[in-house]
Amino acid sequence: MASSGIVKAMCLVLIAVALVAPLAEAAISCGTVAGSLRPCLGYVQGGGNVVPPPCCSGIRSLYASAKTTADRQSICNCLKSLAASYKGINFSKASGLPGKCGVNIPYKISPSTDCSKVK
Ligand SMILES: *[C@@H]1O[C@H](CO)[C@@H](O)[C@H](O)[C@H]1NC(C)=O
Repeated sequence: MASSGIVKAMCLVLIAVALVAPLAEAAISCGTVAGSLRPCLGYVQGGGNVVPPPCCSGIRSLYASAKTTADRQSICNCLKSLAASYKGINFSKASGLPGKCGVNIPYKISPSTDCSKVK
């Protein structure tokens, strides 16, 4: 039936909008956060004690772009979901990363961080 086809199409559009809208509205997208931190993955997943320089530049640029509370909360939420989606992350290494890069991030990178408390 034509009408049920239209209803289905509208549902798909609504779902697509619901999926895309939060990313588009966020001050800093999770894609940006993931891209900046990709060079850090090898380090926090185990290998070695030297922080790769591209990892530090990613962290610094992320930090520099986080100007408002909304920015920092969206980065925090991205970090949480990223941290949950990668296996074998050593969180003591992950939370030491900003310090090793000379950046002071006032919260711990961990899946249990309460991002609503990030100011
Ligand atoms: C995490 O990294 C620290 C520092 O390199 C190390 O001492 C610790 O054993 C690691 N933990 C795990 C679970 O691999």
